[in-house]
Amino acid sequence: MDIKSASFVTSMATYGSFTNRGLPQFAMAGRSNVGKSTLINVLCRNKSLAKTSGTPGKTRLINTFLINDSLHMIDLPGYGYAKVAKQEKEKWSERMSSFFAGNELLKVVVLLVDIRHEPSIDDVQMIRYLRSISIPFILVATKSDKISKAARQRHLLPIGLALQVQPFDIIPWSSETGEGREALLKALDQFL
Ligand code: GTP
Ligand code: MG
Repeated sequence: MDIKSASFVTSMATYGSFTNRGLPQFAMAGRSNVGKSTLINVLCRNKSLAKTSGTPGKTRLINTFLINDSLHMIDLPGYGYAKVAKQEKEKWSERMSSFFAGNELLKVVVLLVDIRHEPSIDDVQMIRYLRSISIPFILVATKSDKISKAARQRHLLPIGLALQVQPFDIIPWSSETGEGREALLKALDQFL
């Protein structure tokens, strides 16, 4: 797949209030600040499509984009943001379950982890949840430009181990260099 067109559709507090047109969907999930919105912009070659920020917790709503007039790409709010109040966390859970529960249009989730860090408990729970509802996922390790090529395997091994994914199935990604773009588009093809 190549992305020829991408446009913003809508922001939702709770999933449902948008005309899905029956189009297949894929979603971006991962910790706050891991680089979901930046990845969307690199994938679509449009720097201002999704709002990014150096401050975690930027994306609080479920943002939907139309790709090639035939797919919906969903930017989910990040999880695991420590400063978020308990009430906000509960809201997050409600939003997530409103999105995932019984969503037959959702074909695959792109789960992002930071290549520099071991996955968090939230990442492990996210994967466990996706497996439990039989939604396939693609694992992407972002910010690969932050570590040397030599250190890469040393970082991918514990990530794979924690999430029970073969290290060679993890896509190293850099929004700085564009690394991973082709691999991710190819991986998405298998599900869309
Ligand atoms: P929330 O909306 O809070 O869930 O965060 P997010 O996952 O959407 O993160 P966002 O895309 O806003 O990026 C967070 C920060 O990481 C920004 O300062 C980005 O410039 C930076 N960033 C994202 N991807 C990369 C990458 O591949 N390499 C480097 N060096 N920085 C990155
Ligand atoms: Mg974001």
